[in-house]
Order: sequence, then C-alpha cells, then structure tokens
Amino acid sequence: MASWCADSLRDCQAWKDAALELSTTSNEAARLFDALLRQIVSWSDCDALGGIDSTLKKMVEADPDAILPRAFVLGLTGLGTGHTPRVDKEFKQNLEKLKLDAEIRGNDREKLHTEAVILWDNGYHKSAAEKWEQILKDHPNDLMALKFAHDAYFFMGDAQSKRDSVKNVIDKWKPDEPCYSYLHGMLAFGLEECEEYREAEKHALQALSLNRFDCWATHARAHVLEMEARWKEGQLFMQQTESDWKPGWIIAPHNYWHFSLFFIEEKDFETPLTLFDNEINRRLKKSGSMLDMVDAVSLLWRLEMEGINVEEKWREIPDMSAHLDDHTIVFNDVHFGPLLSRRGEAENENHLYESLKKYTNCSNEDNAKICQLVGLSLYEGMMAFEREKYELAAEKMLPIRQHIYRIGGSNAQRDIFTQTLIHACILSKNREHNALVETLLNERNKLKKKGPVSERLASKFRENHAPSHM
Ligand SMILES: [Fe+2]
Repeated sequence: MASWCADSLRDCQAWKDAALELSTTSNEAARLFDALLRQIVSWSDCDALGGIDSTLKKMVEADPDAILPRAFVLGLTGLGTGHTPRVDKEFKQNLEKLKLDAEIRGNDREKLHTEAVILWDNGYHKSAAEKWEQILKDHPNDLMALKFAHDAYFFMGDAQSKRDSVKNVIDKWKPDEPCYSYLHGMLAFGLEECEEYREAEKHALQALSLNRFDCWATHARAHVLEMEARWKEGQLFMQQTESDWKPGWIIAPHNYWHFSLFFIEEKDFETPLTLFDNEINRRLKKSGSMLDMVDAVSLLWRLEMEGINVEEKWREIPDMSAHLDDHTIVFNDVHFGPLLSRRGEAENENHLYESLKKYTNCSNEDNAKICQLVGLSLYEGMMAFEREKYELAAEKMLPIRQHIYRIGGSNAQRDIFTQTLIHACILSKNREHNALVETLLNERNKLKKKGPVSERLASKFRENHAPSHM
C-alpha cells in the first residue's frame, strides 16, 4: 500500500470534525482504528503502519473497551464467513459484551454499527445491511458502514444494492478524503455485477489511475474482462500489474483465481495448475480462510470439467473440517461438500450434509431461508454430479437455476454451477435434459459473452448427441 495510508490518521478530534465522532477518549485507539480501516479497505498491509495484525493488536491495547473499533473487528470476523456465534462461544460472548457496552457508552452511530454487526454475525443479513444504509444516510462518509454494506451485498447476491450503496454516496465525498479512490473500485464492481460493463471498466480504470495498488479495482476490471470474454486482455492486464495487486494478500488468492480463468478459456491448463500450487493453495494453507477455500475448489472443479485430472491436488487442499457446522453462507457449503468428497472425507461430507439439512429446517437466519429456496437443492445437485449421477444433478439444479444468485458470490463465481448443470444435462440419460442444453447455453451466453469454454460445451453436446444446428 502506498505510504499515504499512514498520513493524517484521525485522532478523536479529527473524527469529530469529520462528523464521525467516536466515544473512545484514546487518541491512539482512534488513530489505529483509522489505520486498520484504511488497510482493510485496501485489502493489504501498510508497511508504515506495521500491517493489519499488528495494527489490530495495538488498537485493542490502546483501548480494549472502545466501542466502534470492537464492532469493526467483530464485523470483520463475521464477514469473513468462517465464524458464527452459533458455533463459536467466545465470539458470541464478545458480541454480547459489545451490545451491553454500546448501550451504556456508545454514541448513536456506534449503537447502530453495533446493532448491524450483531445482526450480521447472527445471520440476519438483510437487516444488518439496512442498518448500514441507515448510517450512510446521515453519514455518507462513514467508510466502515460503506465497506461492510459492500461486502454484505456480495454475500447476499444483491448486485443492485452493491452498486447503489456506493453510487449514493460517492459524490458526497471530497476527493482528498482518506480512501476516496477506493470508492471508484467498489462502484466498479457493483456496476459490473449489474452488467454495466462500460461504466464498470471506466470506474475501475479511474480508481487505478488514482492508486495503481487498488487490488479491488483490479478485481473489478478482471470481472469485466471475464464477462466480456476478453481473456487475452485479461492475461496481459493481470500479468503486467501483478506486482501492484499481489501485495493485497486478502484478495490476492481470488485475483489469482481470476487470472487462472483467462488461461482456462484458451485451453492452457498448465498455468492455472501452477497458480494453484504457487499462489492459491499455498495462500489457503496459510490463511485457512473459507473464501480462499472456495477459490481453490472452484478452480479444480473447472479444470475437471475440462477433463483435467487433478486428483492429487484435491488432497493438497488443507483440512477445513473445523467449518462443518458453520453454514454462514451456503455459497461456501456448495463448494465445501464437493471438496470433502473429492478428498475422500466421506464421513465429514455426510456430517456437513446432515448439519446443513438440520440448519435449513431449524434456523431463522437469512441463509437458512436461502438454503430452503435454493441452497440445499444446489448442494444436492453438486454432490450428485460429483458422484456421476447426472440425471439427479440436473433434476436438482434445473428448477432453481434462475435463483442461484441468491446464495451470493459473483456472476463469474456462480458460472461453476451453470457449467456443471450444462455438463449434467449433456451426460444425463434423460432426453428432456439433453433437449435443454441449447437453452442453457443460450442463457449462459446471454450473461457471459460467448467464448471458447462455451464453444467447448456446445461441442461436447454435439459429440454426445445427435448433430444439431448448434
Ligand atoms: Fe471476483
């Protein structure tokens, strides 16, 4: 991250002057909160600030009871999707203590933040996002609310809100406010998910012209290039700017996943395999993050759909069994189940499935409702495909395919389900499934411009079935 990140960190008075008052009286905690927020928004460590982990530690030491910094940390924990107070008792206790403290000492904005974080962490995602929007109405320059809402909409599959949340505030920011340039990168991603590719690319490039290290803007542009099937440009762009976005370690595995897709498109499977070994899985081993797990699984699954044997690679993915009962977002579970099965962890996969069913039937959380509508069927469809039961996979996935976006993630990420369903319908013995392949291909080509992967899917259909006009 550029050295500006450590410039003019806001103390208590500076936060107040910005109409973002904190209740803590520790200027050090106030400055370190700013330092942490800036690094999280940039997805990277700032050397001048000692990095995210060190900043967080020092911030807590400076004022262990500070309300907003604690809400920030507990919000980050929940938005990382690898922890839930349902399972993690310490997390639950910390949230309860924050609630009590905020009621006594928090100012109005901190109370709203606390409520939002508690709602999110307990699985009430929509209500949490509404609270963050409520804060932004009165405090459009509240970067914490903006960042959390942005991440929340991603996990909720709500593209319009993702775009509009940033769009509604960007003109109210002064260009010299800390982290202003990142708003263009965030807006770019929201626009991209709304399929407004020209505007999305414009904002991504604007963000990068203001700060070439903005790895979220790089990510937004990678999405545009992916959806417009500009894979050669994608390879070049990611290659030429790798030293700029690579330090953004939180998102780097995902950016390497995007980089890999550009090679898969033109049937270069060796480069993605190298990126899997050297970057994606290596980083997953270090982070143990569910978000990184999704990228690793998604890449291997896609390579398998291209006919590449990656049997050994599955076993190299680290043990993720600590997350069998999390169910924070079913987007994770629909990748997790196939991973466990491919790794030969049948017992763990069965545990995950039984736990997911119980959660779906017994919980009031937003994710449980999404599981009822689409998540559980998608899980069963993915597992049926994994077990080569193609007819069952098609039966499970066909009726829900238009609603899969509700599990969260991006259009590019969810293409794995579209491709899986197309393969299932090609390989199914049911002629009705076979007859739907052309429709499914057209649906895919409508969302993502026709490229070589699409051509290969059509060609696989022709090889397996009677010649057609496709
Ligand atoms: Fe992405």
